[in-house]
Amino acid sequence: MTDAPRARTPTRPHRQTVTMPTTTEIAPAVHRISILYPEINLQFNHFLVTDDEPLLYHTGMRRMFPEVLEAVKQVIDPGKLRWIGFSHFEVDECGSLNDWLGVAPHAQAVSGMVGTLVNLNDFADRPPRALNADETFTTGRFRFRYRPTPHLPHGWDAGVLYEETQQVLFCSDLFTHNGDVEPLTDGDIVGRARESLRDFQAGPLMDYMPYTPKTRPMLEGLAAWAPRTLATMHGSSYTGDCAKALLELDGVMKEMLGAPAA
Ligand SMILES: [Fe+2]
Ligand SMILES: [Fe+2]
Repeated sequence: MTDAPRARTPTRPHRQTVTMPTTTEIAPAVHRISILYPEINLQFNHFLVTDDEPLLYHTGMRRMFPEVLEAVKQVIDPGKLRWIGFSHFEVDECGSLNDWLGVAPHAQAVSGMVGTLVNLNDFADRPPRALNADETFTTGRFRFRYRPTPHLPHGWDAGVLYEETQQVLFCSDLFTHNGDVEPLTDGDIVGRARESLRDFQAGPLMDYMPYTPKTRPMLEGLAAWAPRTLATMHGSSYTGDCAKALLELDGVMKEMLGAPAA
């Protein structure tokens, strides 16, 4: 296992190097396509779920679209993509959405009501599918549930997708940690997230997430699902007692982010 090294302060944030993606099946049919940005020592992970109706979670930035597309091609025909999901409107989450809609004629963005009304109705080249709180949809053998989590990790439109049959929680920026780390770990992901948050707080990336009175109830709600796998956007995915990790993350966020500004 690789310990998560410290974040580095980005010196050329608009000229990042895209490294070749690494693809790993972290759960049956859940393919993690990972690209490391060495300048900021951070992985960007995209999850391709292969099923009758394949789903991509996190499009990636426009700048990394050619690399992620090539990685998807190694698993399926990208033209067969049906669903494109993400947590919130931000370039790493959905920057290349329209590139994907261009190569996948039957693909549709799937988002919460807020994300649809506020962003996607204008941004997406084709109409998205808007989900209500706890609405489910199936892709074949898998069933996804959408849960809005406003401002967790960040953004009014934030939400998560939960694949119920295999208990995989696509948790976006929760548990973010730095380093060229392994695809899947059963190690101390909360400790890694704490280290990275501490480093973020000391530099230009401070206040990554808000901590509010609503944070703990939302994390408790996710923990109540008892996920078996956390598909994290930045860093290793996690397998183990995910409910415990989610509740411990609340303590870390409270400690790191919950104090009044100096
Ligand atoms: Fe984000
Ligand atoms: Fe992210």
